[in-house]
Amino acid sequence: MTQSPTSIEQAPEPQPAASPLTRLGEARWLLLTALFAALAAVLLYDVPSSGAFAFLVAMCAVAGFVPRRAASRRVKLNAQREIRRMWPGTGMKVTLDALPTPCFVADGRGITRYVNRQAQASYEGVKPGDPLSFSLRAPSLLEAFDRVCSTGDSERISWIEKVPTETWYEAHIAPIYMPGNTTPEQGAGLPDFILVAIQDLTENRRLERMRTDFVANASHELRTPLASLTGFIETLQGPARNDPEAQDRFLSIMLDQAGRMRRLIDDILSLSRIELKAHVRPVSTVDFAEIIRHTADALSPLAADMDVSIRVQLPDGPVRIKGDRDELIQVTENLIENALKYGHRGQFVDVELSELIDVDEHTWQLSVRDYGEGIPPEHLPRLTERFYRVDVESSRAMKGTGLGLAIVKHILTRHRGRLEVDSEAGEGATFKIKLPASEESEAIS
Ligand SMILES: Nc1ncnc2c1ncn2[C@@H]1O[C@H](COP(=O)(O)OP(=O)(O)OP(=O)(O)O)[C@@H](O)[C@H]1O
Ligand SMILES: [Mg+2]
Repeated sequence: MTQSPTSIEQAPEPQPAASPLTRLGEARWLLLTALFAALAAVLLYDVPSSGAFAFLVAMCAVAGFVPRRAASRRVKLNAQREIRRMWPGTGMKVTLDALPTPCFVADGRGITRYVNRQAQASYEGVKPGDPLSFSLRAPSLLEAFDRVCSTGDSERISWIEKVPTETWYEAHIAPIYMPGNTTPEQGAGLPDFILVAIQDLTENRRLERMRTDFVANASHELRTPLASLTGFIETLQGPARNDPEAQDRFLSIMLDQAGRMRRLIDDILSLSRIELKAHVRPVSTVDFAEIIRHTADALSPLAADMDVSIRVQLPDGPVRIKGDRDELIQVTENLIENALKYGHRGQFVDVELSELIDVDEHTWQLSVRDYGEGIPPEHLPRLTERFYRVDVESSRAMKGTGLGLAIVKHILTRHRGRLEVDSEAGEGATFKIKLPASEESEAIS
């Protein structure tokens, strides 16, 4: 990829014109030689002294007034060399420090000349004077750097680093031409310096992957019940046309599958609705204790089915928090429902709301504890990912979509809350959520 090369905008410092006296001083040895030659010509060869004098005057005039290109070019070259030696100056350094991405400036030999603040933070031990390859090791980046040095064309390359975690990077490598140097388009001249600006693209790539994974997972989850529905419809139209008993059985399975599709679509819609308003914090004040009581009551038939009793411990008075009632019901419902569905080996599910008062934080903590099989530690970090299930079959058997905890996480983000999970395999699980308390004086809506 070829882009216009970076060149220093600043024009070279104009050199003051040398005075005739300075020029005479610079040509002193030549003039001295001319003087001796004139004296020798007068004394030894009888050259008329007026001729020798005229010769000396002419020499002085040439030395003092005729501009000499070589000298001015030398002065200019020295000035350029000095600029290159000193570059980058303070102005350029503070500008590079203000950039949000790690930037390196190296000379044509690959020696680091400046490392901006972001690069110092991201690449330990990097310092000017060291070869750039000490800090940047990606072979494709170093190859691109060499190409930019030899062609003067800027390049953009990307690469992945696998250790310690998978990270995507993109680097923009641009040539820098100092004043007086010419870009290749203007007629050759190799870059004096090279700027390497590095961007971490991991977050963008992760979001992209999540989006595509989400579409793939959602279609997959919908395709299974849909295939089952189509199969039963064909059976009902064909072999089971005159079998009322089989028809009854198939219709009840079809109702189940349709219910699964409905739940999935409801959850996907709910997730996207919550995502849309993720940055807007709820304004109304609600009674969190009443929400928990209401949810526990609503889940008591499921608890009875599972042969588990829900033990609820709540403060006496109302518990004020800023929140959306329906969304907080959704959070509480999913946590208690999960405890019932996946922890039903135990006989109890403990639901407790407690106040946490810290120096700078006043929060309410809801903890939902079950005494079931628990969750192996390797699954804990991924529980809130969409469609993530520890055991897909048991979740499906419990009519789970794998979206419940993803919804919980999004709702909590909007409420400035946090989710913590403590669990060990065989020891049950405790899901804790913390939400900021509201002022006592605020009326519950
Ligand atoms: N209390 C728990 N004990 C053991 N495993 C749990 C518990 N809570 C959640 N899990 C595991 O985490 C997974 C994700 O839970 P999540 O609530 O997101 O989905 P789900 O319950 O399968 O479906 P949905 O909530 O949409 O009905 C579950 O499938 C289950 O494997
Ligand atoms: Mg769930």
